[in-house]
Amino acid sequence: MADTLTITDNRTGRQYEVPVTDGTIKAMDLRQIKVADGDFGLMTYDPAFMNTASCRSAVTYIDGDRGILEYRGYPIEQLAEQSSYLEVAYLLLNGELPSEEELKQWTWEITHHTLINENVKKVLDGFHYNAHPMGVFISMVSALSTFYPDAKEIFDEQCRLKQIHRLIAKVATIAAFAFRHRIGMPYAYPDNDLGYTGNFLNMMFKTTELKYEPNPTLERALDVLFILHADHEQNCSTNTMRSIGSAHTDPYSAVAGAAAALYGPLHGGANEAVLRMLTEIGSVDHVPEYVKRVKAGEFRLMGFGHRVYKNYDPRARIIKRVADEVFEATGKDPLLKIALELERIALEDDYFVQRKLYPNVDFYSGIIYRAMRFPVDMFPVLFAIARTSGWIAQWVEMLRDPEQKIARPRQVFTGSARRDYVPLAQRGAQGAAKTTGAASTGD
Ligand code: CMC
Repeated sequence: MADTLTITDNRTGRQYEVPVTDGTIKAMDLRQIKVADGDFGLMTYDPAFMNTASCRSAVTYIDGDRGILEYRGYPIEQLAEQSSYLEVAYLLLNGELPSEEELKQWTWEITHHTLINENVKKVLDGFHYNAHPMGVFISMVSALSTFYPDAKEIFDEQCRLKQIHRLIAKVATIAAFAFRHRIGMPYAYPDNDLGYTGNFLNMMFKTTELKYEPNPTLERALDVLFILHADHEQNCSTNTMRSIGSAHTDPYSAVAGAAAALYGPLHGGANEAVLRMLTEIGSVDHVPEYVKRVKAGEFRLMGFGHRVYKNYDPRARIIKRVADEVFEATGKDPLLKIALELERIALEDDYFVQRKLYPNVDFYSGIIYRAMRFPVDMFPVLFAIARTSGWIAQWVEMLRDPEQKIARPRQVFTGSARRDYVPLAQRGAQGAAKTTGAASTGD
């Protein structure tokens, strides 16, 4: 059986044979299909990339129908159980788990890049006290590119690695400082005796004690949450990272752009939206009425549904277990009851069953973050800290991929046909388009 696809163009009666590789055909192979010699050739139309692979990638594997997620071949369940966030970041970037010596060196490098230039702090000080920390985070990461102009040398491996250390280290500091600025607390500087996550908690929550000691249960739980959020193949923000990176932009600007994509409520902003939704529902008795309104199309059930998972999101399953451990240390959050009831009703309801809508990673993560005392608007920032390693791994893979070029989709033009400019005095009250009628007819 040949690995090819035969296409008959019924407009011309001509037949074409195109190769099928890894279950895909190359969109460029369709360009030979023309009605007349001067034609542009056939294109595919795929708004929102519903059925288009934009790259070859060896970083993360997802089987959405079976609820499987693997980083570099390792099941997410095993990594969440046995690994650490920094080790996972190394794995994503390098493709293999580090040896003891490699992990030691990697950890040392990240730990020794956590400080930010004092002038970066001045930029931060310029933000209003109630600025959303995600907006601050995006701006501050972007500002880093001006402090490290060498970051433009993206094809110099050594220089690139230095920016990678800086980025993974400094996103945690920026995130914590954004929070401290917001609540008017002095910045808590990094403590190199602590691990990545413990130090982040130190920078967030240290007050007057001489040495901050993170609660080991909460530190481990946050580390697991970081592992779960580290990468998720070609999602909206990763696609943004690759798209910006394809123009050979420096990695700080590209991560800032990726974080901006993550900010949206349909993506990493969903964890914040879930918490607001649970608070609005207010009590278990209100859940059926809320679900009714979701089904009537008034709004979406936040933290539910996924473009790729048409089964239970494996990350949500792990998070539910982590939640139990956290609540044992912090006491139960009353919103948990509402979330569990919402999940129970939704999983039995035809509307959700038929559309294969299951809880995603964001459904329970917010409740855990809240129990750890993170304010709601910090939730997407926590997601961004963790996803930075995935963005970088995908960016490096793209830079090394000889098939990649500047990302530049095509369009199907639906606008006005060519027309002559109408001077202002001749346009009338409705403007040129209405006066001439040219825009709507398209002739
Ligand atoms: N609540 C109610 N209905 C939904 C939901 C939801 N959360 N999600 C999808 N649907 C319905 C949708 O209305 C549509 O129904 P119909 O066929 O009758 O028009 C059907 O399910 C398919 O939805 P879609 O919009 O075509 O699906 P998509 O793949 O484009 O969207 C999604 C994926 C995640 C944007 C969407 O499920 C959603 O908006 N969920 C809520 C936001 C959320 O939790 N986002 C976090 C995603 S996980 C973290 C991350 O990686 O960012």
